[in-house]
Amino acid sequence: LACLAERYFLVSNAKKKVAVDPHFRFNWKGKAGEILRNHTNLRAQYFEQTSDDFFLNSASKVFKKKLGICLVDGMHEFRYALNDVLNTLDHLSDDGIIIMHDCNPQSAEAECTFEDWKKRNFGGLWNGDVWKVIVYLRIFRTDLNVFVADCDHGLGIITRGNKQSYYNQFSSYEQIDALTYKDLSENREAFLNLKPVSYLKDFIR
Ligand SMILES: C[S@@+](CC[C@H](N)C(=O)[O-])C[C@H]1O[C@@H](n2cnc3c(N)ncnc32)[C@H](O)[C@@H]1O
Repeated sequence: LACLAERYFLVSNAKKKVAVDPHFRFNWKGKAGEILRNHTNLRAQYFEQTSDDFFLNSASKVFKKKLGICLVDGMHEFRYALNDVLNTLDHLSDDGIIIMHDCNPQSAEAECTFEDWKKRNFGGLWNGDVWKVIVYLRIFRTDLNVFVADCDHGLGIITRGNKQSYYNQFSSYEQIDALTYKDLSENREAFLNLKPVSYLKDFIR
C-alpha cells in the first residue's frame, strides 16, 4: 500500500476500510494531519501480510458485511492477481465493484515477470501480466461484467452481471498464462475490452 492508498484510502469516508500488504510504506508522519482529520482512519484496519494469507486466515472474520469497493493492486503476476480477484468476489456485494490497476501495459519491459523486474533492480515501470486476469474472467466468468478503462496503466473494472460480449478464444488457464506481450499488443482492444474513460464515467454514474 503506497501511492494510490495515500491518495484515496486515507481520504475515503467509508465506515469500514481494510488494507492488506506484506510491506506497508505509508508516510505516517507526513500524513498525520490527514489521518486525524478523517476519523474513519482511526478505525481502519491494516493487515501486513500477503493477500493469499489474509484471505485464508482473516477475511471471513474481518468482512462481516459484503464489500462495496475493492482495489486490487498487489503482486502483479497473473496467478496472484487472479487469486486476489476470485477471493474478493467471495466477499463482494451484488452491486460492488473491483478495480484492478495495471491492466494495460505499454511495453514488454513493463509487462515482464517479477524475476525480470528484480534483475533490473526494480527499475522502471512494472505492470506485470495482470492483464491476463481480464482475459481469464471474460472467458470463464460470464457472470461478470469486465472491461478495462484506458487510463492510468489500465483500470480493470469488474462487477457482477454480464453486460459484455462473450469472448471465447482460449479454453484453459494454461493457454492464457502462455500469452506474451506481443499477443497483447496485437489484440489489445479484443483481449481487454478496452473502453475510453468516458465509458467508465457513464458506467459509474
Ligand atoms: C504497485 S504497489 C501498489 C501499492 C498499493 N496497492 C497502492 O495502491 O498504493 C504493489 C504492492 O503489492 C505488494 N505486494 C507484493 N506481494 C504481495 C502479495 N503477495 N500480496 C499482497 N500484496 C503484495 C507490495 O508490497 C506493494 O506494496
